[in-house]
Amino acid sequence: MMDLATQIVSWQKTHGRHDLPWQNTRDPYRVWLSEVMLQQTQVATVLDYYPRFLARFPTVRSLAAAPLDDVLGLWSGLGYYSRARNLHLCAVTVMDLHGGVFPQTAQQLQTLSGIGRSTAAAIASLCFGERVAILDGNVKRVLTRVLGFDADMASSANEKKLWNAASELLPANDLQQTMPRYTQGVMDLGATVCTSKKPACIICPLALSCVARKQGQPEKYPVKTRKLKRSSQSIWLLWAQAGDASVWLNKRPTPGVWAGLYCFPLFDSREALQAAVPARYHAALQDDPVFTHVLTHKDLYLHAVQVSLPRPAMPPSEGRWFAADDWPSLGLPAPVRKLLLQTKPLPAPDVA
Ligand code: ADE
Repeated sequence: MMDLATQIVSWQKTHGRHDLPWQNTRDPYRVWLSEVMLQQTQVATVLDYYPRFLARFPTVRSLAAAPLDDVLGLWSGLGYYSRARNLHLCAVTVMDLHGGVFPQTAQQLQTLSGIGRSTAAAIASLCFGERVAILDGNVKRVLTRVLGFDADMASSANEKKLWNAASELLPANDLQQTMPRYTQGVMDLGATVCTSKKPACIICPLALSCVARKQGQPEKYPVKTRKLKRSSQSIWLLWAQAGDASVWLNKRPTPGVWAGLYCFPLFDSREALQAAVPARYHAALQDDPVFTHVLTHKDLYLHAVQVSLPRPAMPPSEGRWFAADDWPSLGLPAPVRKLLLQTKPLPAPDVA
């Protein structure tokens, strides 16, 4: 019987994914960029952003030289913007501390901003054939199921044990060929076969060795007791629009939600929002339907309030007017982008 690694490598050759734009290269810049984008984002979405990003920043040098605002602008809509800030910082570090060349070991890669243990291992194994294990959400699912690893993943000691198990399963020979295939294969299995609901055990190359399958309940893995405590919050957004259709945006402070992105002025209550608008416009405030935006730990209930202001009348907050032509290239929080690009603007105000 082939060992698990050999089975995964051979399955990847015939049934894995081979034509994603970040495959068929060992350029660490390209692989790094794809891994960071894929950390919290679906492949289908990344397929849309990745080529645009590479066209604008073809090298780590060009990325490091760009203003952070340009990077956030291209990232706009991908979410988890600390990834974009870390990406830029990482590029600057590679230029300044490593002469523009990515380090070639997982251990060194892990010292860079935004590169954790699993991302470092993905880059090192895919680009340099290093024998190191990845363990992202997909891979945790595959390994806990095949091993019947039922310890609680909420405990860091158990997480450590799974890392050790993952390291022991790695291919042993011909690493330059097998490691990239193995890493890609175990990710592909998690994404396309060993899915979180209704896994396709019938086509799985590991079915005969899989403990979870023998037990008849693959979906109960991975085991995790501690549930994320989710909270919710309402936020009011002042959507002030001038007669020329420009809107008032300010740059969000760091730290905080949407740090560094351009956003409508935000308020904790309808009253606070209204207080920021001159009294003669209060009657013109128009409340949009509330909508929900899901963050990692929180559901945001967003209350956009539109008002048309003649241009010299500015909301008494930091910021400036941005013309519609500027919006697509700005770093905007996803809900603001959605509002601006999909909602009907108000008619122009009467001349004041
Ligand atoms: N998710 C994380 N890394 C990936 C990769 N290299 N290919 C497909 N999906 C991934």
